[in-house]
Amino acid sequence: MARDFTSVGVVGLGTMGAGIVEVFARNGVDVVAVEVSEDALERGRAILTGSTDRAVAKGKLAEADRDALLSRVRFAVGLDALHAVDLVIEAVPEHLDLKQRIFAELDRVCKPEAILATNTSSLSVTEISVATSRPNQVIGIHFFNPAPVMKLVEVVRTVVTSADVVADVEALCKRLGKVDVTISDRAGFIANALLFGYLNHAVGMFEAHYATREDIDAAMKLGCGLPMGPLALMDLIGLDTAYEILDTMYRRGGRDRRHAPVPLIKQMVTAGLLGRKSGRGFYTYERPGSPVVVPDGQTPVATEAALGGAAAIAKVGVVGSGTMATGIIEVFAKAGYEVVSVTRGAEKSARVFEAVRTSLNKGVVRGKLSEADRDAALGRINWSATLDHLADVDLVVEAVVEELSVKKALFASLDEICKPGVVLATTTSSLPVIDVAMATQRPADVIGLHFFNPAPLMPLVEVVETIRTSTETTATTRAVCAALGKTGVVCGDRSGFIVNALLFPYLNDAVKMLEASYSTADDIDHAMKLGCGYPMGPFELLDVVGLDVSLAIQRELYLELREPGFAPAPLLEHLVTAGYLGRKSGRGFRDHTRR
Ligand SMILES: NC(=O)c1ccc[n+]([C@@H]2O[C@H](COP(=O)([O-])OP(=O)(O)OC[C@H]3O[C@@H](n4cnc5c(N)ncnc54)[C@H](O)[C@@H]3O)[C@@H](O)[C@H]2O)c1
Repeated sequence: MARDFTSVGVVGLGTMGAGIVEVFARNGVDVVAVEVSEDALERGRAILTGSTDRAVAKGKLAEADRDALLSRVRFAVGLDALHAVDLVIEAVPEHLDLKQRIFAELDRVCKPEAILATNTSSLSVTEISVATSRPNQVIGIHFFNPAPVMKLVEVVRTVVTSADVVADVEALCKRLGKVDVTISDRAGFIANALLFGYLNHAVGMFEAHYATREDIDAAMKLGCGLPMGPLALMDLIGLDTAYEILDTMYRRGGRDRRHAPVPLIKQMVTAGLLGRKSGRGFYTYERPGSPVVVPDGQTPVATEAALGGAAAIAKVGVVGSGTMATGIIEVFAKAGYEVVSVTRGAEKSARVFEAVRTSLNKGVVRGKLSEADRDAALGRINWSATLDHLADVDLVVEAVVEELSVKKALFASLDEICKPGVVLATTTSSLPVIDVAMATQRPADVIGLHFFNPAPLMPLVEVVETIRTSTETTATTRAVCAALGKTGVVCGDRSGFIVNALLFPYLNDAVKMLEASYSTADDIDHAMKLGCGYPMGPFELLDVVGLDVSLAIQRELYLELREPGFAPAPLLEHLVTAGYLGRKSGRGFRDHTRR
């Protein structure tokens, strides 16, 4: 019979501990909440009441339920208060010596049958367990931030954790309404092992002035559908905690340079910029503990001022007849621009016309577009098979095949045909924009305009500046993005720009984790969806994107940045060689023919 947990203890009432107290008390379990001092206890109590009050204000919790919840929590200073509980969860700062000291003390104070659990994100549960005389009753119960919201719990068993302890804790997670994945004791478990390399990389981009904090965060939210951007997430996690997790993962996880904390993190921790909890991190908050971001010196100035110098654009040329060109033509025509579509012949133009019309018709059927607006949009598109018709456009967007020689030849022609001052944009997703720019005599006017697929739906556009792009060209391009109703994020001309550079190494790491048999594709997908709020797990996404496309992007990143950790996972290469390309071939990481 599963053990009945009637009372639990929580040690440390910071970002995680206070949330964990709330999870238990909400589910009818009595909690003894312990801190190191009266002051810290008050802070912990304030986090708990703040969170439950917000839930009441939002109508998610009845007042009476809040009062009942709070009445289940007893606050105390010192571990002695935990002598009668059935389970303790420790959530003190991420330092091995501190945790070992606390576990030795818990071992002395708690009743012999009590289970001792740690919420550590990266330290060895095994090393923590040997500080007690009952390592078989020590386990990791890793909640996600914010604990009351995130559904996932990683249950970490060491080689000595008893099977019945694991089973009892799994049953408890179910009772709390959580979904657990049970795994062995490895640095970062599933979710953090996949998350923190990405977070550290994003901080590195920010530190290198590759893009602004707002643009990095917007790129990942809008380009990948993540609930928050990486820098906002660092602020939520806490920079001190994130530093310790990275540092431990670096030391325990084979000294992968991608986990070596970017120097800026340490500087910010030293300066007391810990994120939300201290009121300032990458962003500035209304007050310590508040989720509300307030403007500061780095907040971008009002859009109009920022877009000063933008040239007026009325007529746009789009070159190409593939998926991206078709979507881009639709986007511009719908936004009121006059469009000149140039393809390699009347037959291709007819196909693009059909595709644009079909897509616009869908908008009409869904009631999002009137028939008159559809007809007006179609009427704004001129169809041509020769670049000569681009002589009087104000902007050209190139979306032809992803081959440098083809794009360079095209830009050389555009240079001869287009009037001076025109912005020449490429939608390349992997080639260096500067190579394309140098095929013209006007590199200052050349820029990357990286739309996402499907262009009519995706709200993000990456605006890629080369070292020769003029500020006017960038301003014009940003203004165009805004007029299209898209968010344009500005970044440098490096492989993968923002989104792919941050996304694909994470996907590749997931493949490596699967290859190492640490966990299953289902559990890894679950962990990222339920622990981090991702819309799809890595294997679901890889199968949608296509394994061949993913491998090509990962190879580019590896070749350009020479980062050993970016080397494509052998399993990914093998699947591609075997023709398992994902949904499009019926099989990738999963078999799609049987669903
Ligand atoms: N922040 C996150 O997103 C996150 C997510 C999952 C797990 N974790 C893990 O949870 C643990 C706690 O992290 P956090 O972010 O909540 O840290 P935090 O700094 O916000 O809170 C730690 C709390 O522990 C208290 N404390 C310190 N020494 C103590 C002692 N001897 N006895 C009792 N209380 C003591 C501190 O006063 C503080 O309130 C860490 O192991 C961390 O890796 C963090």
